[in-house]
Amino acid sequence: MAHPGRIRLVVLFGGRSAEHPVSLRSARAVLGQLDAERYDLRPLGITRDGGWLGAAESRILLEGGLPASSGGSPYLPDGTDCLFPVLHGPGGEDGTLQGWAELCGVPCVGSPCLGSALAMDKGIAKRVLRDAGVPVLPWTELRRQDFEADPDAAAARLFAFAAGPCFVKPLALGSSIGISRADDPSSLREALELAFRYGRAALVEPEYCGRELEIAVLEGQPPLVSPPGEIRPTAWYDYQAKYLDDSAALLIPAPEVPPAALEALRRHAATAFEALRLAGMARVDFFLGGGGQVVLNEVNTIPGFTSISMYPRLMELAGVPFGELCDRLVQLALARAGSEGQLEAEHRTA
Ligand SMILES: Nc1ncnc2c1ncn2[C@@H]1O[C@H](COP(=O)(O)OP(=O)(O)O)[C@@H](O)[C@H]1O
Ligand SMILES: [Mg+2]
Repeated sequence: MAHPGRIRLVVLFGGRSAEHPVSLRSARAVLGQLDAERYDLRPLGITRDGGWLGAAESRILLEGGLPASSGGSPYLPDGTDCLFPVLHGPGGEDGTLQGWAELCGVPCVGSPCLGSALAMDKGIAKRVLRDAGVPVLPWTELRRQDFEADPDAAAARLFAFAAGPCFVKPLALGSSIGISRADDPSSLREALELAFRYGRAALVEPEYCGRELEIAVLEGQPPLVSPPGEIRPTAWYDYQAKYLDDSAALLIPAPEVPPAALEALRRHAATAFEALRLAGMARVDFFLGGGGQVVLNEVNTIPGFTSISMYPRLMELAGVPFGELCDRLVQLALARAGSEGQLEAEHRTA
């Protein structure tokens, strides 16, 4: 039934990413938090093959069923007022969807095209962050064709760069897929082979022995920056630990963080948010060294959003309960689109 005045909000979920099942859980949580009196909620599911489903089949996917249709091209349901992408990785978090929404003139929750794309490419993000004075680990990038020309020579060169155990990652993916640790040139070669299965470029950086702390940021003047939470993985935080067996413990808030490190974490999280041109939300992930030094590892523009995920729990700690968080994110997207629309109109009449 139509409720005049309600915001028609399309919640996008699923998608091609390995985090498809996480996205389903996050979307259910977000949909459960938004007030149906104020929002006309339209779940829109994207299949694992990238097909955009109709309304009925989206519900089936959301509830864990198998839709009969393979879906179609991206589309906007009639009268969409705002998009809320609860999608991770390429095709959802990397700026492509955001750019499409911008072309369509529809407000979209979270970062715009540029910020999303900058944050998704770990190499570009590091350059921007370094330039903004945020500490990042040293790294080298390698293209697949340069690896294939002489894999052993490339592995030896990169191992010499790392000068010890190192991590190899696809340059732009997320969710720990394709990431591995190497501790000699031959395991580094294998790690590169794995990373190149997921992308045309990879990044190698030395292993950092420290704690893993995460900060939640919500757009504002100034942005709201949460206290840190901590992940205590059994080994490193791989896909298995993240999504399959819940073997990593989340400590919220992170215990015993020295005051100087706490201040640095919050300052660097806010700087990263601005420097990468982010909007709406971000989860900024750090390493904390034994001597209290802080290094930014990566920035996620669409963090996990289940009720037990780090981002909403940190925001709750910062004083914004889950329901209010979802509502504020939509209002921020609408306000941003409104002020941009006004600027454009002023431009046209000038
Ligand atoms: N340089 C590093 N030193 C130590 N551990 C690392 C390093 N890089 C990544 N890791 C481990 O691997 C996990 C996944 O790496 P990350 O860069 O966060 O990729 P993703 O985007 O897939 O989450 C981290 O949470 C951490 O446990
Ligand atoms: Mg990570």
